Amino acid sequence: MPLKIAVLISGSGSNLQSIIDRIEQGILDARITLVLSNKPDAYGLKRASQHGLATRVVEHGSYASREEFDRAVVQEIRASQAQAVVLAGFMRILSPFFINSFPNRILNIHPAILPAFPGVDGQKQAAEHGVKISGCTVHFVDEKMDHGPIIIQAAVPGLADDDAKSLGSRILALEHRILPQAIQWLAQDRLKVSGRRVEIEGAPQPLLAGGGQETALVSPGLDKGF
Ligand code: GAR
Repeated sequence: MPLKIAVLISGSGSNLQSIIDRIEQGILDARITLVLSNKPDAYGLKRASQHGLATRVVEHGSYASREEFDRAVVQEIRASQAQAVVLAGFMRILSPFFINSFPNRILNIHPAILPAFPGVDGQKQAAEHGVKISGCTVHFVDEKMDHGPIIIQAAVPGLADDDAKSLGSRILALEHRILPQAIQWLAQDRLKVSGRRVEIEGAPQPLLAGGGQETALVSPGLDKGF
């Protein structure tokens, strides 16, 4: 049985697209029961509709408090029968109510090697800091922003002339690989959380890919197809 997931977005939805593509290729054993955006103009909603997926918009501005907004979102997720939640560029902090509604069942992708550069514009923060290595992280969501137990990370070089855009696109290419992979491990029930640590059953060895400016280190490595 595929894992039923709700994917939450706020923008372009390229990570959503990477999930859709892996599902359609038969590599990721999941089914998207809902794509929810807090922004009505998020391009990801169009991507979802093009693939016949159910979409909802819940605008945070229409609610008096974070928790009221979260209650409305959780209600939509529950109505969709999703068993897990994927934050794919969803730019809202979740309340404890939301997090406690799906314990160890909410994944987030962040465009930096956490715990470095949490918050918004991780790529910009890293480029401006002049880092020689940055990347992306998929982690379980807990009550602190960009903080929960880490499932997988990928590193890329930071180059001398990088800005947020150039570094960000190098990072994004890897986001599109590690996020579907982490969802697949969740779907296969291969993730065991113990405190801050996530043990991955049969995790592949770390992977070194590309070369030169395209070098990437992914840890743990990726299963076939990801
Ligand atoms: C991605 O780079 C994602 O890592 C980031 O937003 C972008 C969404 O792109 N998320 C965060 O910064 C969360 N703190 P997308 O809409 O094309 O998937």
